[in-house]
Amino acid sequence: MPLVLVVEWVDLDNPRLPLHAPALSLQPLASSKPISMSTPSSAPSEWRRTHTCGELRSEHIGQEVRINGWVDSRRDHGGIYFLDVRDRYGLTQIVIDEAVVGEVKVGPEFVLAVHGKVAAREGGNANKKLETGDVEIVANRVEVLSTSKTPPFEVIDDLDTAIETRLRYRYIDLRRRPMMNNIAHRARFTSAMRRAFDDLGFLEIETPVLNRATPEGARDYLVPSRVHPGQFYALPQSPQIFKQLLMCSGMDRYYQVARCFRDEDLRADRQPEFTQLDMEMSFVEEEDVFTVWEKVLVRTFKEAMQIDVPTPFPRMRWSEAMERFGLDKPDTRFGMELVSADEWALQSEFSVFKSVVEDGGRVMGIVVAGGRDGISRGQLKPLEKRAKEFGAKGLAWWKPGLEGGAAGPLARWCEGEQGERLKERMGATDEDLLLFCADSRDVTWRVLGELRLHLARQLELIPEGHWDFLWVTHFPMFERDEEAGRWTSSHHPFTAPEDWELAGDPAEMDSRAYDLVLNGWELGSGSVRIHRGDVQQKVFGLLGIDEAQQQQKFGFFLEALSYGTPPHAGFAVGIDRLVALTLGLDNIRDVIPFPKTTSAADLMCAAPSAVEPVQLEDVHIQLRPGVGAKPAAAE
Ligand code: AMO
Ligand code: AMP
Repeated sequence: MPLVLVVEWVDLDNPRLPLHAPALSLQPLASSKPISMSTPSSAPSEWRRTHTCGELRSEHIGQEVRINGWVDSRRDHGGIYFLDVRDRYGLTQIVIDEAVVGEVKVGPEFVLAVHGKVAAREGGNANKKLETGDVEIVANRVEVLSTSKTPPFEVIDDLDTAIETRLRYRYIDLRRRPMMNNIAHRARFTSAMRRAFDDLGFLEIETPVLNRATPEGARDYLVPSRVHPGQFYALPQSPQIFKQLLMCSGMDRYYQVARCFRDEDLRADRQPEFTQLDMEMSFVEEEDVFTVWEKVLVRTFKEAMQIDVPTPFPRMRWSEAMERFGLDKPDTRFGMELVSADEWALQSEFSVFKSVVEDGGRVMGIVVAGGRDGISRGQLKPLEKRAKEFGAKGLAWWKPGLEGGAAGPLARWCEGEQGERLKERMGATDEDLLLFCADSRDVTWRVLGELRLHLARQLELIPEGHWDFLWVTHFPMFERDEEAGRWTSSHHPFTAPEDWELAGDPAEMDSRAYDLVLNGWELGSGSVRIHRGDVQQKVFGLLGIDEAQQQQKFGFFLEALSYGTPPHAGFAVGIDRLVALTLGLDNIRDVIPFPKTTSAADLMCAAPSAVEPVQLEDVHIQLRPGVGAKPAAAE
């Protein structure tokens, strides 16, 4: 007896339907039309795709094809059904005439094999928004390769679902077009970078993941050893020491797409595991590293995004970046730079400002062009609050174009000549608003630097489509950790000092560290390295690491430096940041297929998790009473 298939929208979560409904159900029908029928167990050659869902065009009209993909959506037109079938490459419309195909149960996210003939979409039905929109497949057979429960959220571009749900079902989230595009964009970027480094004669070399700790500034992820009771490996915060050892080995030009692990406070631009494009070169100085990276990035932007990036990138010393922008990763796409009002403050009657400068602090300001009318009194309150969040004691303001109270708290110190001088110093006009901060140098920089960014976003001063790269050079060698009462490295302890003699006050020493900044993001860091054992030991000494500790922690490294180490320098770019930035995303999570939450949990696999007592025993670990009862990821 001839059979016919009826397209039915099934919901596998709906209890009215059997959960394991047969993929295909057949009904007798009084029609003589022969139909084909098959089951998912048909031989591979029968269901495997001839084309992807993004491939069919007008030139394929009339061809018999097969596509494989996920059911995206369905529309009914009385006996005729339209299914959109999706895969990584696109979406193709399928027309199913139940009189031809018969009954087939499909639901959202079912995986199908569709057999049929490509036809033109008739009568103005073409969908110009879709690359395959001129055609459709008129199905003669639909096979269900796999059923799906009702997904926890729709596979649509503009999804308004809690991030936790998306991460819990990340494999479904990744089916969404924007996510798929992000991951593909990332792959294009890394492969273009690899090609560029290969062509420049760099060797891709892997370094170990089970390591001794590398002092990169964050906390280590530790791995207990089974065969060495009480001893631990550390996962690499970066391949720093190994890449330097490769230079000792004469490997000359190294690169690696390196996974790094850091147990630190997480933010939008920080994940506990992330990827660096890490590299190192021998017999070079700063400019050689810059040139290589400029070549690599020009090529990568061209190949992955068809964008021409102009080179050389501007260079700016750290001290200039701080003085003009208040931050070491300046967003140079807009102005509103910081201006020093120290001199003005010293001869002013405003005792708060005057005493700050007399005590070695700074008074600096920014000019908000058009701010007299553009920023109301009401808007200034939250601005001051914001400044205080960044550490300011207050935010003094002045509108030179207004009189009395409306001119702001600073107005009484800006009468006549005083005001004219301040206006001139700041390069301001009567239409502007002037904002000032008086504090220690570092607080003043930070407050105004952050405020500048905040205002630029609020006033929409940041132009779109700019790629403002900047090398920031000559970072300080050391930073003071007041709490611990000691010096720490601004970059890391292997960074060369400007002065190999390390003479003078550590607070004043410049290093040969550099950063690459893109549109106000720190994209990467690097430095010329210390290749002399004596200098390395001196630096360790300044960092408060005594001889015994030096030998215990870095003995192997100091020894390596004593066997003929070439001058070398290197750099590492955060790939997650680069990819996110180039996609206009502000969270690197969206370019990582399986990211962690801000509490470093994987919501899908529920990692971290408790382990079997025997596993702990194996690695000689005993948990403190009460610890380990509740896996962190299940919170
Ligand atoms: P640094 O610690 O500055 O330098 O790291 C280099 C770059 O890696 C990226 N990055 C991160 N990305 C995502 N999540 C994180 N938690 C994270 N931490 C860092 C940033 C950063 O600029 N060994 C040195 C490099 C060198 O000297 O060659 C290093 O790791 O984009
Ligand atoms: P006061 O004299 O404390 O009333 O402050 C007068 C104005 O100066 C107020 O608008 C304060 O916000 C501002 N102000 C006070 N201290 C500082 C400071 N350290 N830097 C910038 N503005 C300040």
